[in-house]
Amino acid sequence: MTDLLNRTDRDITHAAELLRAGELVAFGTETVYGLGADAQNPTAVAKIFEAKGRPHFNPLICHYESAEAAFAHVHATPIAEKLADTFWPGPLTLVLPRRITCPVALLAGAGLDTLAIRVPAHPIAQRLIAALGRPIAAPSANRSGRISPTTAAHVLDQLEGRIAAIIDSGPCRVGVESTVLDLSGPTPFLLRPGGVSLEALQANIGEVRQGLTPGQAEAPRTFRSPGLLVSHYAPVLPLRINAAEIAADEALLAFGAPLAGASLVYQLSETSSLHEAASRLFEGLHWLDDHAAARGLRAIAAMKVPDHALGLAINDRLARAAAGQ
Ligand code: TXA
Ligand code: MG
Repeated sequence: MTDLLNRTDRDITHAAELLRAGELVAFGTETVYGLGADAQNPTAVAKIFEAKGRPHFNPLICHYESAEAAFAHVHATPIAEKLADTFWPGPLTLVLPRRITCPVALLAGAGLDTLAIRVPAHPIAQRLIAALGRPIAAPSANRSGRISPTTAAHVLDQLEGRIAAIIDSGPCRVGVESTVLDLSGPTPFLLRPGGVSLEALQANIGEVRQGLTPGQAEAPRTFRSPGLLVSHYAPVLPLRINAAEIAADEALLAFGAPLAGASLVYQLSETSSLHEAASRLFEGLHWLDDHAAARGLRAIAAMKVPDHALGLAINDRLARAAAGQ
């Protein structure tokens, strides 16, 4: 059952309680409706991918109450601060390097070392984030491959029964997604056009790069855009997938009963829960990387994960990590 909530303080408080309990709540922003989870709860974030039916993990935008709260989780640059002054709250998302202390679940950023942050202008979004007291990770509240919803009815049509609640926030004023600007490299790079125009960005900060002209000598920075080519976090150690047995020099990424003989094991889910495994995947790869070499191990073997539901996204991610080496 999906609760249809209203804009009363009581309903917003209830929605925040659901988020705190690890449930999903769809809410209005000025761009499109978001499918929100507590960004610091990896289990809740895994539910987002489950509800959307995404076959792979896309990094999500984290929604904050203020620029100050957002910049406490990433390394801001003077350009980021200038843009925040001009366009926040509003339909602009900035991609910046995560701070080492950033408490946002790795799954929310799909394992990347950058984080997409935004301060939305919609009063419902603002009240919900304030009531939760933590950032809300939220993609657009549509099923994978369908268009972004701009009314509560669109959301219900696609996600009814798959999420705990939706706050009827009225129609979205902007109606297209936020502009995504990557500020983690030397020159600002437009990853997705959206609610703030390229011209407005250029008037504010000068040069903004976009796309690549043929023959351009410089290394493409589009690798940052996960929709195109992905440079997600890959472990430093070689990764072998679908392992059915384990070698003496391998650490094990286990799913269910671990393979016999492993000296170092990270358990994704003892009970073979795909949902739990998704929420622990990036932590697990990092942990094995950090601990394996010290034990003289030279590689990571990942056990087979079933190819359905969230298993599709887990396997997609593992295959990329294994191939990207
Ligand atoms: O207007 C919006 O942006 C809406 C509302 C809910 O805020 N959200 C939204 O989220 O459109 P989503 O997940 O549908 O799109 C997020 C975009 C994706 O293209 C994703 O690849 C990109 O932002 N993105 C997120 N984190 C990134 C990162 N660390 N590096 C590069 N791109 C990132
Ligand atoms: Mg989307």
